[in-house]
Amino acid sequence: MRISIFGLGYVGCVGAACCAKLGHHVIGVDVTENKVNLINAGRATIIEAEIDDLVREGYEAGLLEATQDIDYAVQNSDISFIAVGTPSTKQGHLKLDYIFDCARNIGAALAKKDGFHVVAIRSTVLPGTNANVAAIIEEASGKKEGVDFAMVSNPEFLREGTAVHDYLNPPVTVVGSNNERAVEMMRELYAHIDAEFVATEVPVAEIMKYVCNTYHGLKIVFANEVGNICKALGIDSHKVMDIFCKDKQLNISSYYFKPGFAYGGSCLPKDSKALRTLAHDNYVDVPVINAINPSNELQKKAAVDMVVAKGRRKVGVLGLSFKSGTDDLRCSPIVDVIEALLGKGFQVRIYDKNVKVSEDTNTNKDFIMSKIPYMYEFVTDDLDDVCANSDVLVVTNKEKEFANVPERFPGKIIIDLARMWDELDYEGNYEGISWGNINRNVAQGEAIAADMVRTEF
Ligand SMILES: NC(=O)c1ccc[n+]([C@@H]2O[C@H](COP(=O)([O-])OP(=O)(O)OC[C@H]3O[C@@H](n4cnc5c(N)ncnc54)[C@H](O)[C@@H]3O)[C@@H](O)[C@H]2O)c1
Repeated sequence: MRISIFGLGYVGCVGAACCAKLGHHVIGVDVTENKVNLINAGRATIIEAEIDDLVREGYEAGLLEATQDIDYAVQNSDISFIAVGTPSTKQGHLKLDYIFDCARNIGAALAKKDGFHVVAIRSTVLPGTNANVAAIIEEASGKKEGVDFAMVSNPEFLREGTAVHDYLNPPVTVVGSNNERAVEMMRELYAHIDAEFVATEVPVAEIMKYVCNTYHGLKIVFANEVGNICKALGIDSHKVMDIFCKDKQLNISSYYFKPGFAYGGSCLPKDSKALRTLAHDNYVDVPVINAINPSNELQKKAAVDMVVAKGRRKVGVLGLSFKSGTDDLRCSPIVDVIEALLGKGFQVRIYDKNVKVSEDTNTNKDFIMSKIPYMYEFVTDDLDDVCANSDVLVVTNKEKEFANVPERFPGKIIIDLARMWDELDYEGNYEGISWGNINRNVAQGEAIAADMVRTEF
């Protein structure tokens, strides 16, 4: 394929050299003349393992060149990558000047080009930037997004030091676009890269890199805090983390990675509290570990706030135990939500078939008695009764019997804490705890979209 890459720094130079290695024809563009000259002499613009050979080979094969003539680059390519820097401003916001300059330049060149063109943002940018760039290109080119050109967000996951290897062996290739033709062109571009190709929505692709990098930071800080506790206790932290990493079922896995309701149960709250206390008793500061419980509490508050925001007093809770298929109420987070709602004067009906069956179990009874002594009055094993007599239904777990509740009881407001439904299209009002109003709340959807597009720095 024929591609142009705007920005010949770390990401651009590696991308240019690797695309040439994959057999594509690459035109690099940079505002710094020296970088253009380096590429046109077959030399890399950065210092990085393997890059010198790749740039030289690409240049000698006639597959890699650079220019400051933007018209030439756009005319002679089908995809233009934006790989310019996005540094922080003094206030910590993202400085998008280079991105927007680049968009104006590409737009001006597109005005003179016939035929479809794809603009792919490779730089790390916040959600909403892709739409802003599209608007700038439309204005500068007089052309229409989706017709004459299409936008793509294609985040880069390479790490300096192993950049070439990372580029050619990415964990996943993420392409966000609302244009199928553009997605197919990107698929063709990456056909020889052995990684899953994930086509998704633009904002999903845009936020991906931030989520990944923040998580990587979290991993490092967590390991360091564990290390500091271990050191204080004379325990070898590396032995601990080596064993920790052997658990590929719960620790190093996709388990627990679904946004949803607060955690509860008899172990997580108790044991993380014990580790916090151990750190405290040994004078070890663990701000990240200390922040876990407050964050979990906020998720319970978010559930309460969602119910309150609906402005209806009759609330039905579907599922009381902390997990489906169990009757364990110890530290069930929904119990705290119910307690808060009752305190605010809401009428709460609760359905949980497992809890009802075992209402004599002492552990649960003790727990409920200490939390909400009068709660059993509100618990029933009649699902239909709860649904029919509530305006708001809070679904806390994925019991199969809840699946058709929206169809059987149309018009109810559904608050989904368990991602029972990926998407719900019915004449009611659906909201997930950590995902958007996927359904009918157009006003809220528009407000979110407007916020995203307003993200100018
Ligand atoms: N460096 C990394 O490891 C890495 C990894 C993944 C993603 N990223 C992201 O990729 C983006 C680029 O990072 P980088 O490290 O390659 O930056 P960089 O500073 O090394 O390179 C950016 C290049 O863009 C050029 N440039 C600026 N404005 C231009 C314009 N209007 N037209 C053409 N060229 C222009 C600059 O001269 C420079 O050569 C950033 O958003 C960064 O966050 C970086």
